Amino acid sequence: MRKLYFIGAGKVGTSLAYLLNKKGYEIVGIASRNLKSAEASASFVGGNITATNDIFIFIEEADIIFITTNDDAIPFVVKDISDKCDINEGQVFVHTSGSLPAKVFEPLEKKGAIGISIHPLQTVASPTEGIKNIMGSLFAIEGNIKAYDIALELVKALDGQPFFIDSDKKPLYHLAAVIACNYFVTLINTSIKLFESVNIDSEKGLTGLLKLVRGTINNIEKIGPKQALTGPIARGDIHTIEGHIWAMKKYIPELLEFYKVLGNMTVNVAIEKGSLSESNAKKILEILKDI
Ligand SMILES: NC(=O)c1ccc[n+]([C@@H]2O[C@H](COP(=O)([O-])OP(=O)(O)OC[C@H]3O[C@@H](n4cnc5c(N)ncnc54)[C@H](OP(=O)(O)O)[C@@H]3O)[C@@H](O)[C@H]2O)c1
Repeated sequence: MRKLYFIGAGKVGTSLAYLLNKKGYEIVGIASRNLKSAEASASFVGGNITATNDIFIFIEEADIIFITTNDDAIPFVVKDISDKCDINEGQVFVHTSGSLPAKVFEPLEKKGAIGISIHPLQTVASPTEGIKNIMGSLFAIEGNIKAYDIALELVKALDGQPFFIDSDKKPLYHLAAVIACNYFVTLINTSIKLFESVNIDSEKGLTGLLKLVRGTINNIEKIGPKQALTGPIARGDIHTIEGHIWAMKKYIPELLEFYKVLGNMTVNVAIEKGSLSESNAKKILEILKDI
């Protein structure tokens, strides 16, 4: 079985090391900037894996080297390795960034390595959650064609659904994930704050919101994202929208811009759904314009 080495003992690195180890891959070591992170990661993965803060020591031994640091550190780690290590011909380097291209591996490719990016379309908030969520995800593969087979093999081991993406399309692809996942978290936080402003405590607010959002997700799954749209814009309830704007102006004016931007976009969804008349759409757009 291929030997894997992980540099960057964070949430994704630890989750992937755990899952791939369970699928029979040998993990030769886990390295991180701080030894404590590497040790915690190795202990999570189990099986006496060596933890180190010397990122260079396992390079020679590994067939596949995962650089699972934060995105900004990847080029520096690549440069350090290419400056200080010998590279075996055909050694595969992987990163898991959704936005950075595999071109970042260029300095290592010049020394005979093959670089590829394999991005799990998943949110990994901790290794404990990561090992539950990553299996079966969509995986975006991009980079050197010579590593396609290995990338497909790794994705298969994670029961994932692979697809190939052009390097220059990666930021757009990643943007889609950020909007649906990260901005969604921001939306929930915003709703909880609004609940708190009307004396619904955060715990009760979150419980209520989770029930609401799960209902929405069920609808999206069953009838699709357009038909799942409900609410005042979908219905053309002009007075309700005016009520929101009145309340924001009085109590929380910093939300107005956000409401305007998402409101405009939601009008388009309602038109596509077919539930909003042209005249009501015009009226809502006028009201939003005047915010
Ligand atoms: N989290 C997600 O939801 C998610 C999903 C898909 C893809 N990704 C991608 O996966 C990669 C890792 O993300 P993550 O969320 O797992 O990040 P993370 O939890 O912040 O972990 C990054 C780890 O890299 C280590 N590190 C930073 N600079 C380093 C260096 N110069 N040398 C060695 N180790 C270094 C950090 O070290 P110390 O702790 O040792 O200081 C940290 O443990 C990123 O490319 C990200 O875009 C993340």
